[in-house]
Amino acid sequence: MAPSIRACLAPVFITSIFANLIHAATVTYDFNITWVQANPDTAFERKVIGINGQWPIPTITVNLGDRLVINVNNQIDQDTSLHFHGLFQKGTTHMDGPDGVTQCPIIPGSSFTYNFTVDQPGTYWYHSHSKGQYPDGLRGPFIVLDPENPFVDQFDEELVLTFSDWYHDQMPKLLADFMSVTNPTGAEPVPNSALMNDTQNLTIPVQPGKTYMFRMINMGAFAAQYVWFEGHTMRIVEVDGVYTEPTEADMIYMTAAQRYSVLVTTKNDTSANFAIVGSMDQDLFDAIPEGLNPNVTSYLLYNESKELPTPAFVDEFDPFDDMTLAPEDGLDLFDNVDYSFNLDLKMDNLGDGANYAFFNDITYVHTKVPTLFTALSSGKDAENVAIYGSNTNSFVLNKNDIVEIVLNNNDPGKHPFHLHGHNFQLVVRSEDEAGAYGNNATGLPRKPMRRDTVLVRPNGHIVLRFKADNPGIWLFHCHIEWHVASGLIATMIEAPRELQETLHVPEDHYAACRAAGVPTEGNAAGNTVDFLDLTGENKSPDLLPAGFTAKGIVALVFSVLAAFLGMAVIAWYGAAPITSGELAASQRRVEESSVVEK
Ligand code: C2O
Repeated sequence: MAPSIRACLAPVFITSIFANLIHAATVTYDFNITWVQANPDTAFERKVIGINGQWPIPTITVNLGDRLVINVNNQIDQDTSLHFHGLFQKGTTHMDGPDGVTQCPIIPGSSFTYNFTVDQPGTYWYHSHSKGQYPDGLRGPFIVLDPENPFVDQFDEELVLTFSDWYHDQMPKLLADFMSVTNPTGAEPVPNSALMNDTQNLTIPVQPGKTYMFRMINMGAFAAQYVWFEGHTMRIVEVDGVYTEPTEADMIYMTAAQRYSVLVTTKNDTSANFAIVGSMDQDLFDAIPEGLNPNVTSYLLYNESKELPTPAFVDEFDPFDDMTLAPEDGLDLFDNVDYSFNLDLKMDNLGDGANYAFFNDITYVHTKVPTLFTALSSGKDAENVAIYGSNTNSFVLNKNDIVEIVLNNNDPGKHPFHLHGHNFQLVVRSEDEAGAYGNNATGLPRKPMRRDTVLVRPNGHIVLRFKADNPGIWLFHCHIEWHVASGLIATMIEAPRELQETLHVPEDHYAACRAAGVPTEGNAAGNTVDFLDLTGENKSPDLLPAGFTAKGIVALVFSVLAAFLGMAVIAWYGAAPITSGELAASQRRVEESSVVEK
């Protein structure tokens, strides 16, 4: 099975149509969320979450400045929502997507419209932000074309190359097994395989002496991938929507949710074909299952009559360090920090025996009222962090403050951290085992690299800075989907009083809440009278009793917990019937309003 990249990536070739238009179009997609059968690694057929009866799901393609309208109709038997990863959603925090935070779930059989303008160029992706769902297939590329791309003269053609880990089991089962007393160490499920463009052994026809821009996206649930092009050097020109000073790299380490645009110039002769390799970082896996192939290979196809080479074996990895990148716009370091806070990360067991993830000893638990609606309904209490609940790691940010997050990773794992609504300057990143940040860094980069997802090393730290210029509710979380489930989430409540004055939430968002039985007023506990009274709020399980180890508690609570977990899972995933709807073909419409030909 070796589909050509053209078949997979048709939307990208719309580039030439748009190149001579000046923006202000409205692009509309009708997305019916549907189950589809797929077998992308040719090892196991399973059901996946598709769109309009298709999987892989469509690439969303817009021009910088376009308005995007996505009409979602949920035709599967699970709640859903869509997040547009990396888009700032300036003025439209209610379109950001996290179920239970900025919106209510889109329940089975119901509809919901996302509608916002896109003011950032570059490479993004979209994915479900509901109950660990996206690794079941509901994730795809989101490309914002920019006629003013500073590198537009330096490449001949652009292509999207997605990377992903892949599981044969469905997420509801994997999540239940992961968050369980039977998994007290919190070992994450290991993927069954790796994919590129949702397949393997993809051949990409190329011509000699040309330059291609590959928009690379890691849409995986868990695994970072080392990426290299045999026999070719990459020139990085964009990370996570930020143009960079062109920088050469032979190997890139791409965590879950990161993106890199790289220019690759082909050779002048066509005597051989070359492998493109993605290799999952096996340091992340607690145990390596026998027979796991951590690699996925594609090929630069120069010559169809030549063989496809077997990639050279590599087990020493020396990837490019993204700290050394500089933003093309030359934005200076934010050096007057108004508000700095620490997030100390650890993993530990709670009284139910499962393994949780914590910031500052608090693991995230969803609130009874989505946090955005708490902010909108709380009047002047909106600036009191207590109303957002004691299990949300909420921080209230003042408009235009320079905010600094110091994240100390007290865990031997690598974690990719993502902030919604912003990108951030990566000011400090320690090596492995450096311990907590001592507030003593010298020689900070004058023009630090900015991005929206960043790696923190094992038992190390990172320091991030951003300007709170985007009123809204923005999650900050580890982008390993297992750690979202185990609670590694904090919540930025940015300029909530301004939000109350400026945000208009459309009626269909309230309808979604009514349909789901979720209130849209009140504090985290749903109290609309006394916002400071959190009685009845959702809380994490209690701490383990002193003297108990996680393993010791297994035998004790197993039977009780098994029953309890079973019930919880049923409540989570619902038993609502699948609505029978017609599967429309993937529909994309463009209405040009005030479009001017150059
Ligand atoms: Cu891709 Cu909460 O994010």
